[in-house]
Amino acid sequence: MLEARYDFQVGVPDPRLFPMETWRRLVARELRVSAAGYGEPSGYAPLREAISRHIGISRSVHAGPGDVLITNGAQQALDLVGRVLIEPGACVAVEEPGYPPARQLFRSLGARVAGVPVDAEGLVVEAIPGSARIVYVTPSHQFPLGTPMSLARRAALLAWAERRNAVVIEDDYDSEFRFGERPLEPLQSLDRAGRVVYVGSFSKTLLPMLRLGFLVAPASLGPALRAAKRLSDWHGELPTQAALARFIDEGLLARHIRKATREYAARHALITDALAGDDRLRLVPSTAGLHLCARLAPGVSVRPVPGVAVERLEAYCGEKPPQPGLVLGYGAITQQAIPGGLRLLRSGMSAAPEPARPLP
Ligand SMILES: Cc1ncc(COP(=O)(O)O)c(C=O)c1O
Repeated sequence: MLEARYDFQVGVPDPRLFPMETWRRLVARELRVSAAGYGEPSGYAPLREAISRHIGISRSVHAGPGDVLITNGAQQALDLVGRVLIEPGACVAVEEPGYPPARQLFRSLGARVAGVPVDAEGLVVEAIPGSARIVYVTPSHQFPLGTPMSLARRAALLAWAERRNAVVIEDDYDSEFRFGERPLEPLQSLDRAGRVVYVGSFSKTLLPMLRLGFLVAPASLGPALRAAKRLSDWHGELPTQAALARFIDEGLLARHIRKATREYAARHALITDALAGDDRLRLVPSTAGLHLCARLAPGVSVRPVPGVAVERLEAYCGEKPPQPGLVLGYGAITQQAIPGGLRLLRSGMSAAPEPARPLP
């Protein structure tokens, strides 16, 4: 297949921004000095310490090193939580639209997955099925819409979880790239009843190929999660974990995030400004992450344009009816390419039917 000239792929950071030489040096050093035997299932201890400090500062997550379990990306964190908590036929509530790999994973573990609508404040808590005891959410930057969950909705979700004795899986996959004010507290730090498992990923702040993520679980789930991790792959790769511990401790992660945030903020602004006046689209407000979502006005269609790769919102809808829209990632496309890519993309859109009905 020909590579797209204008690539609005979702969910990938820009590898050109990553300090690869520094990373290579850190990994090479750890390959020489790391112990060669087995490690602890919860992961390399200095990395757990570094992560607990980092997320305390950057995300206000309350976690000691003993609460952190290092995983092979967020996906393995979801897998471990699922293995520990999902019984065959159990109902797991997920956002609709939402993140397909999470939905597919829970289904593969025997769950009945129920899509719950998302409105301008986030997951509609009253719509969670009565039988659900696990809810998977992306409150910082709803995937794929981009809306943050309101404080009132966060409080309602936590109250629901406490009432139902349920567990909330909070996937905080890309909120370190922030272009606005300081974000709302994560569910994890608002939770007083030990109902939240917080899941983090380095796939956006570093690179997806490194497969580095982590979870922070309430103490009651710790032993079962560590046992599940040991049965799964014992622990991840120790030299990579050790390299990341140094990367964080030496301030290199914070520096990389600051630099990448400036770049992504500029790309985000270019897309927002270019689409602002187009009545065929309505951008969903968002001030974080690596993608933007635009809903299509009723009756507007988009045909594929050669050279432009863009994803449809419909691809993230597990249930009918699909919601028409576009999800525009800006991790893979440069600032220089954005205006041309959007011009071409819009050349494939039909005109808005007259008079355009207001968007929901
Ligand atoms: C909602 C969501 N969660 C998690 C991830 C990252 O997953 P992983 O850490 O397994 O690469 C992504 C990546 O696109 C995502 O969109």
